[in-house]
Amino acid sequence: MQQKEISKRQLSLRNGQEKPEIWVAFRGNVYDVSSSKLWKKGKHYEHWAGQDLTKELNDAPHTEVVFEKFKIIGTLKD
Ligand code: HEM
Repeated sequence: MQQKEISKRQLSLRNGQEKPEIWVAFRGNVYDVSSSKLWKKGKHYEHWAGQDLTKELNDAPHTEVVFEKFKIIGTLKD
């Protein structure tokens, strides 16, 4: 089955401030990180959810394996 397409606008509303869901886009996929204690209120160190953080992963002290336990809820529409 094809993944749901998620717009940048829909993603931006899931930044942990306006809605209860917290979403992050990475390499074209949108992940639901709402259950994470490390993304409370949408903030993760100096980064905010609700956007594409693919490039920012280069500044992180970890790799993309951190996404493995989270569900992909859709693909980011460009
Ligand atoms: C200054 C930049 C960052 C710092 C200091 C940081 C730090 C951390 C730390 C300490 C953890 C705990 C687990 C681990 O180290 O493996 C973590 C988890 C995680 N990080 Fe980052 N991170 C940064 C940037 C990012 C970026 C840019 C993303 C997204 C592209 C990201 C996504 C995640 C995710 C999804 C987890 C897993 C959360 C969980 O398991 O609940 N991080 N981060």
